[in-house]
Amino acid sequence: MIQLRRITDHDLPRLRQIWKKNWGDEFIVVRGVVYHPDNLEGFIAYNGPDCLGEITYVINNGDCEVITLDSDCEGQGLGTKLINAVVEEARKQGCRRVFLITTNDNLHALGFYQKRGFALVGIHRGAVNESRKIKPGIPLVGMNNIPLRDEIELEIVLKV
Ligand SMILES: CC(C)(COP(=O)(O)OP(=O)(O)OC[C@H]1O[C@@H](n2cnc3c(N)ncnc32)[C@H](O)[C@@H]1OP(=O)(O)O)[C@@H](O)C(=O)NCCC(=O)NCCS
Repeated sequence: MIQLRRITDHDLPRLRQIWKKNWGDEFIVVRGVVYHPDNLEGFIAYNGPDCLGEITYVINNGDCEVITLDSDCEGQGLGTKLINAVVEEARKQGCRRVFLITTNDNLHALGFYQKRGFALVGIHRGAVNESRKIKPGIPLVGMNNIPLRDEIELEIVLKV
């Protein structure tokens, strides 16, 4: 049974390991902005002691942006539970939309979000090349052996 709760300071050592493993460091660069996810609001979902996922987000001017979403226990429903929790929270807070950025190589995430109601709304060509200037550890070749260079924006509109 998957449990969901807000991230607390107690979770941070384990979450930092996940962020480092998936994103090469404990900070994320999105559209040229540096985010430290350990300072952000978020949820964790877990299914027993060894099965954990996390999501962090920022709400700004009525827009809710997902900054990180990671599951170290894929295919058990954690990712779905987490994205739904943020959409629900954004709705409660009266947000106009939930949006996020993923990268052109992340075919799995592009499918995952679209199956959960997100639409592709923008391609920021070369944006990863810009982020790499801030975070040189971002690889040149990403997932699926695809050159890693563009940011792709997806959104769910909550109210028009
Ligand atoms: C994208 C990501 C967060 C998804 O997390 P997840 O925990 O695997 O998500 P879920 O388990 O909810 O869904 C994944 C698949 O498992 C399936 N699934 C869910 N519950 C299941 C269950 N109990 N049994 C079998 N399959 C199940 C879902 O149907 C889904 O498939 P679909 O997308 O074809 O519908 C995860 O793959 C990940 O951490 N990727 C690396 C980091 C990343 O790319 N993050 C996004 C960056 S923007």
